[in-house]
Amino acid sequence: MQEQLKALEGEARGEIEQAATLEQVEELRVRYLGRKGKLTLILRGMKDLPSDERPLVGKLGNEIRARLEDLLQQRRISLQESLKRERLERERLDVTMPGARPRLGNKHPLTLVLEEIKEIFMGLGFSVVEGPEIETDYYNFEALNLPPNHPARDMQDSFYITEKILLRTHTSPVQARTMERTAPAVPVRIICPGKVYRRDADSTHSPMFHQVEGLVVDRNVTLAHLKGVLTHFAREVFGADRKVRFRPSYFPFTEPSAEVDISCVICGGRGCRVCSHTGWLEILGSGLVHPRVLAMSGYDPDKVSGFAFGMGVERIAMLKYGIDDIRLFFENNLRFLEQFGIG
Ligand code: DAH
Repeated sequence: MQEQLKALEGEARGEIEQAATLEQVEELRVRYLGRKGKLTLILRGMKDLPSDERPLVGKLGNEIRARLEDLLQQRRISLQESLKRERLERERLDVTMPGARPRLGNKHPLTLVLEEIKEIFMGLGFSVVEGPEIETDYYNFEALNLPPNHPARDMQDSFYITEKILLRTHTSPVQARTMERTAPAVPVRIICPGKVYRRDADSTHSPMFHQVEGLVVDRNVTLAHLKGVLTHFAREVFGADRKVRFRPSYFPFTEPSAEVDISCVICGGRGCRVCSHTGWLEILGSGLVHPRVLAMSGYDPDKVSGFAFGMGVERIAMLKYGIDDIRLFFENNLRFLEQFGIG
């Protein structure tokens, strides 16, 4: 029986050393040391041995079991190590390989223009204020001197949510909100960028577009301040040699009101299709804040005055970059968007 056990140990050792996978190691463990394994089977024969031999054989059996278990464990460890080595070898980083350059995005043209507008006005001491896109009739119209049924409301076909709540049609309501919060303190010097909504869609109008509103309220603000600030702005965006024209106009919230035109970016003022042969392009609306608007928001129009303006960001971007269809901004065609460089 001792011979049998030794032979078994030799056989098992040979096979364990040959095992090439962890699964094979486990199979061998079951085959030799398992409950129905070869070692167990041999030891079962112990009951037929003379009693003085049993302890000896039992001891030998236990030693063999321990040695084989050791061996199995060693085999497992060395297999695991070589697996790990193989994997590391496979995944080794080749630092000489040419890199895969990650695709860098670039800023949207409207973001670029908006950032430029903000820079210019921040340089003049304006701060940036935002307001809600879902607005009340009061701030969108009434506080701007557009009472219910005022005909000027028709200029802005609107998206109503309820009778008194709508998607704001311009950024001007932020004027009223800011004045209400600040009055009677001066100065107010703000620009208000944001999305606005109108029932309007063609190659130069989009139902959602962006505006930047501006407002200054202080003592002794005059039309000269408005002209100085907006001329500076137009020349920063469109070039120092740009001619700027203030054309009388009408807005319910300003008096007097002026539309600001620049000499045509295409023909320089000689007249072309883009400027409808006038030589001028309109870039924004402006005026001195109507005394009634100041009063409604808590200022005394006898003590302070102000000027305001509002511009369409898409329009500025179209003129600046020579884009002829507003829908290009929102179609997300990369061949269009990629032309605006790394932002
Ligand atoms: N809110 C006007 C619009 O959407 C633009 C505008 C004109 C804003 C004159 C002003 C302003 O603040 O003074 O057409």
